[in-house]
Amino acid sequence: MNKTMIVAIDGPAGAGKSTVAKTLARKLGFLHIDTGAMYRAVTLAALRRKTDLRDDGELEKIARESKIELKPGEPEGRVFLNGEDVSREIRTPEVTQASAHIANSVPVRKILVARQQQMGREDSAPYGGAVLEGRDIGTDVFPGAQYKFYLDASVEMRAKRRLKDLEKVGVVTTLEKVVEDVKARDERDIRRPVGGLRKTPESIVMDHSHLSVEESAEELYQFIRQHPC
Ligand code: DC
Repeated sequence: MNKTMIVAIDGPAGAGKSTVAKTLARKLGFLHIDTGAMYRAVTLAALRRKTDLRDDGELEKIARESKIELKPGEPEGRVFLNGEDVSREIRTPEVTQASAHIANSVPVRKILVARQQQMGREDSAPYGGAVLEGRDIGTDVFPGAQYKFYLDASVEMRAKRRLKDLEKVGVVTTLEKVVEDVKARDERDIRRPVGGLRKTPESIVMDHSHLSVEESAEELYQFIRQHPC
């Protein structure tokens, strides 16, 4: 059986991982798997059911029962929860905030990590490989990934991007407030005992604060071309 190639992209929120991962996957002809969207979909399901976000038993049930599908789309991939297109709804500030609780749930992580492994191994087979992006791809989901990238960008740059995104959806706030939010999210991502954001010794760390998405994806693409495995 041919082994599919796995490209892991980890890094903090707002470093541009999603668009870079999507562009890189297109260049390689691979499947793109946005694992953050899966945590967001479970979060939305939990919020809709008014679940206590600390109730691991209930969260586990919701994660198990949620059918999450990621489909290619422009300008962004589409996310379906039990057949419903929830691509917009999973990006609201409410879901973003609550997703940090869901990401802390060990049973939810177990279920989603297993699904991501299955998607990376099986669903990606027709494409020859997958680009997965998240926080724990190179550490927990695919520790044996052929390529592990850690995509970083300064807090200020990430906050500016986030502010733009928020303004687009009509949220009124200030850069100072967004900087504080970004720092708090980093703290939560790094301190999470299971699935926390970490570099691995073999991670290729790139700070693309000053590159466009297209340039950033091209750097990763060239790296892969120049380092065949
Ligand atoms: O990347 P994002 O902002 O869409 O991620 C949404 C939430 O899921 C965020 O709280 C981080 C968490 N997450 C995670 O714990 N592990 C992943 N592999 C991807 C995202």
